[in-house]
Amino acid sequence: MVTTSVPVQRMVRAMVVLFAGLVFVTACTEKPSPQPPGGEKTEAAGKQYVIGFSQCTTTEPWRALFNRLLEAEAARMPDVKLVVLDAQDRTEKQVADMESFITRKMDAILISPKEAPGLTEVVERATRAGIPVIVLDRDVNTRNYACWIGGDNLEIGREAGRYAVEVLGGSGKAQGIIYEIWGGMASPPAQDRHNGFHEIVGREKGIKVEGNQDGDWKQEKGYNIMETALKTMPKIDLVYAHNDPMAFGAYLAAKDAKREKDIKFVGIDAIPEEGCMWVKNGQLAATFVYPPPGVEGLHAALKILKGEKVPPRITLPTRRITAANVDEYLASLKK
Ligand code: FRU
Repeated sequence: MVTTSVPVQRMVRAMVVLFAGLVFVTACTEKPSPQPPGGEKTEAAGKQYVIGFSQCTTTEPWRALFNRLLEAEAARMPDVKLVVLDAQDRTEKQVADMESFITRKMDAILISPKEAPGLTEVVERATRAGIPVIVLDRDVNTRNYACWIGGDNLEIGREAGRYAVEVLGGSGKAQGIIYEIWGGMASPPAQDRHNGFHEIVGREKGIKVEGNQDGDWKQEKGYNIMETALKTMPKIDLVYAHNDPMAFGAYLAAKDAKREKDIKFVGIDAIPEEGCMWVKNGQLAATFVYPPPGVEGLHAALKILKGEKVPPRITLPTRRITAANVDEYLASLKK
């Protein structure tokens, strides 16, 4: 049952439409097979698919939005029963949650893993048990699953790098000290956001990047890392954090040290109630849209269950959000 309020439902619907509209597909190797005329309907009539969704945590607002969007979509589908488990940010619990889905013989499983090394084996086990697995956002270290769906973190890292170069003086002339705060180092999004960023800023002789700390995507860790960095670094021009909560935590630490006005803070996610609001308030200089992939995951699972082919990788788009376009972006979500 979905118990979200009407404005939230409206926002959720708007985001579903927006994200669905923006989706583009990469590595599309196969096309959906045509339906037998009328046959599928009769066969599927009355059938309810039980789909398990293992979410790594729900304490972070991006994850909470991810769940809300997915649950709202599932509630609209009479042929779907969605079973949601929250691993509470613990790999062992997520492995156990996946094992329970295997034992309960789910028709399909959606998983958004906490990290790659610890979740790879159980994803492979579910696949071996004949259950189609759709991996969402953070990838695992195998291709033995049906489909992966998420943002292009390498490109988002590059986009953040291009923004940093621009605000620090432009290509070939950029000057400044950047402090980077990592998301969970064992997760591919953090690695890609790091690599993409360095690919761009690494070309600038006048830019130096410091910081090699794992903030595990958490605001309070962003705060603590920044508090320490400020003590040893008399000059920081820009903070690049791998998500908005850590960028905001870093901003709060700088504010407490009365240095927030000297530093530009850049994050990733751009959800309305966090990153976009912080950009609107002038606390973050920029953030990048990172669409929650749950709705696409559910659609892919249903296609597979109905015998259609889905591409092995589906990439969701991004967009730079700054003070210049945040209002227009937020208004576009409400349409
Ligand atoms: C939420 C989150 C997001 C981030 C994503 C990366 O758990 O940390 O802020 O964009 O996961 O996997």
